Amino acid sequence: MFLLGTQRVNEEAHLEIGGCDCVELAQTHGTPLYVVDEAELRKRCREYRSSFEQRYPDVHVAFAGKALLTMALCRLVEQEGLGLDVASGGELHTALQAGFPPARTHLHGNYKADDEIRLALTSGVSRIIVDSDPELDQINRLAAEMGKVADIAIRVSPGIKPKTHTNIQTGQVDSKFGLGIETGQAMPAIKRTSTLASLNLVGVHCHIGSQLFGLDSYARAIEMMVSFLKAVRDETGLELAELNLGGGLGIKYVEADEPPLVAEFAQVVTDALKEECAKVGLGLPRLVLEPGRSIVGEAGTTLYTAGVIKEVPQVRTYVSVDGGLSDNPRPALYEAEYGVICANRAGEPATEVVTVVGKHCETDTLFRNVLLPPLQPGDILAVQSTGAYNYAMASNYNRFPRPAMVLVNEGCAEVIVRRETYEDLLRCDLIPARLR
Ligand code: LLP
Repeated sequence: MFLLGTQRVNEEAHLEIGGCDCVELAQTHGTPLYVVDEAELRKRCREYRSSFEQRYPDVHVAFAGKALLTMALCRLVEQEGLGLDVASGGELHTALQAGFPPARTHLHGNYKADDEIRLALTSGVSRIIVDSDPELDQINRLAAEMGKVADIAIRVSPGIKPKTHTNIQTGQVDSKFGLGIETGQAMPAIKRTSTLASLNLVGVHCHIGSQLFGLDSYARAIEMMVSFLKAVRDETGLELAELNLGGGLGIKYVEADEPPLVAEFAQVVTDALKEECAKVGLGLPRLVLEPGRSIVGEAGTTLYTAGVIKEVPQVRTYVSVDGGLSDNPRPALYEAEYGVICANRAGEPATEVVTVVGKHCETDTLFRNVLLPPLQPGDILAVQSTGAYNYAMASNYNRFPRPAMVLVNEGCAEVIVRRETYEDLLRCDLIPARLR
């Protein structure tokens, strides 16, 4: 068993987060319950800012909202002085409604609908990150119609395949994202931008993948990107001001995981960038980062209540919990593994190997072969590092209402997303008159 953030085992041998007893949280708010550790979240934001700002003259850290976006999250990130990377009209709307400054927000997406681009332009987001050649014309047309000039960055694919699950590799040539450098598609797009009057090209972007432990992939990406910036200067005379390196830093999901520290990440990135720029005689660009998982991942814990415990003799013991695929699709999608703690008996030795499964009409295996104390129905299981891409990817499969989320800090728990009700499930359903 390992503990993260402000997690500790209290005098009653219960798991505590942010000074709140997880057994009490489960009683008060029900399960499944997402718990967000405010102190840990703020600490990560500060680590990012201070590690990069100490080492680099001009840096902008934008939280990648796709990892977890709620209005309260926007407020926290805003208070910590970070920017925000949004990847859809819905994420942008959430940020705007929460009062997040558009000037610190940028919009991503490989398929931006006209409405999403219009919303970005009306609200005044700082950048639109262009993903493809046709999108240049689309944004140019919409900006012209609105009498605006759009500040854009172009997403390129540096041709790097970092070590991680294939579904979350994004910087390789064979990817739906961005314009390939190697394939010769990136440079013509850059050149064409200067012919489009309602676009102002500010920089280039890349994002090589997610849940990365190898910092060498970032160093290689920087080498590729800086040599591309040099080629842009040589061929067009244009010195682009901004280099956005995306996100991707990995986090600890299981005991054996040893992700790099944010400070180590910052050191590798800033050293490589300074070195590469010096090599080719380029001034230092403004550095933009878009961490998602490494800001919120370890700050999140999911609480479940154990139900039926089924032993298949000589094979395995299944423990069903009151959630599953709908609140955490990551095991099914990426064979993701997690650390699990019995929150009401956190002091007891873990002596049994069990497989935790969800309650969907599917084989929704959540956590295979985890070591826990002997369990009983009613026990509270706490799953670590569920802050990123859990609630964000949650669904209503089997018409499960989505869980609530509480923000915990110094013994206080506040609901930041209320639990969905059965009524919520019907909110968008309509019965045509002829079927009534
Ligand atoms: N910037 C861009 C352009 C991205 O596409 C992503 C993630 C990020 C930043 C943030 O990456 P992070 O720091 O969180 O690794 N659902 C998957 C992860 C998909 C990541 C998509 N893009 C998962 O649960 O592992």
